[in-house]
Amino acid sequence: MNKMTVKDVDLKGKKVIVRVDFNVPQDDNLNITDDNRIRAALPTIQYILKQQPKKLILMSHLGRPEGQVVESMRLTPIATRLEKLLGQKVLMLDDCVGDKVKNAIEKSSETVVMLENLRFYKEETKNNPDFCKKLADLAEIYVNDAFGTAHRAHASTEGIAKCIKAVAGFLLEKEITYLSKATGNPQKPYVVILGGAKVSDKIMLVENLMNKADTLLIGGGMAYTFLKALGQNIGNSILEKDKLDVAKNIIEKAKQKNVKLLFPVDHLVVKAIDQPETKKVVKDIEDGWLALDVGPETVKQFKDVLAGAKTIVWNGPVGMFEKEEYASGTKAIAECLASLKGATTIIGGGDSAAAVAEFKLEDKMSHISTGGGASLEYLEGKELPGITALADKK
Ligand code: 3PG
Repeated sequence: MNKMTVKDVDLKGKKVIVRVDFNVPQDDNLNITDDNRIRAALPTIQYILKQQPKKLILMSHLGRPEGQVVESMRLTPIATRLEKLLGQKVLMLDDCVGDKVKNAIEKSSETVVMLENLRFYKEETKNNPDFCKKLADLAEIYVNDAFGTAHRAHASTEGIAKCIKAVAGFLLEKEITYLSKATGNPQKPYVVILGGAKVSDKIMLVENLMNKADTLLIGGGMAYTFLKALGQNIGNSILEKDKLDVAKNIIEKAKQKNVKLLFPVDHLVVKAIDQPETKKVVKDIEDGWLALDVGPETVKQFKDVLAGAKTIVWNGPVGMFEKEEYASGTKAIAECLASLKGATTIIGGGDSAAAVAEFKLEDKMSHISTGGGASLEYLEGKELPGITALADKK
């Protein structure tokens, strides 16, 4: 990565403000159901603390409160979890800018401070210059470790970087190191697994990754628009009629670029999502049936391709894995990736990361992105404003 990191600046005795992405899922009682994003920021937080800063000020958003204080979106439960993980007291403030916040930070005997949800101010998402300055006024050095929010040009991710020295944290660096393997110079053979419900969500991703990949394995709901475009009967399976031409175009481009496209050859079909008892595996989908997972023959073909790969990117489940009855295809793919030796396995954030977590295979993958939208945009070849804004390496 050509950006400066925490290792390139002297943090001793300094006030350091760190943007993290602690936008974690919570249940109805506000219990955190997955703290991976908090854990993923620990290496940066622990490193900064070792450098003996004057203060380490953490800031994040949680949910989309749209410029209002929403009690259920306070960061208090997150600060409590961080305290446990860090083994150190964290001072939780009830605001994120202004004199009261500044004074509380100065007066506190705690080194680690957590600001309240940035999105309680509409100025955050509007990247308002005054708000950027107010955040920057709290510290001398800014560290961005919020990869999950790096695709947003917000005050705490982009604007603040124009006000004070701005460098990357280790999570941001790790994400870029891995994801750039997928878009830069991947070790070959390079295989991309694409799934998820809609083709429309993945058009730019396919277009960009087709420039580098040797094979694309396509499953999930999106496969059925392609199969329809190829003239197959897809019954009641999910179809984006207005994307049939796009699908045809992608198939054509793949031919020109000599990229292999593999689609499901058998399917787990049901009469309706809530009728799992009707499920059966078929090669041809008849009217009145809808496909919710890939079949065993498809899994075998996909696994054969994956066995020889050196770089693998996985974005999107190949079936409706959230329901156990339709999870076996996605589970088989996850287990296959977990078993591969000598291949770099990169899991896009969002649903594929959730699938790997569901099957408890997280520690078997080379990298699982903490950013759903951010990893998608990066893999689409887009610039992420939160990264662009950081200081370049000299
Ligand atoms: C995410 O969960 O994808 C990030 O935290 C970004 O959240 P946002 O989509 O609300 O900007």
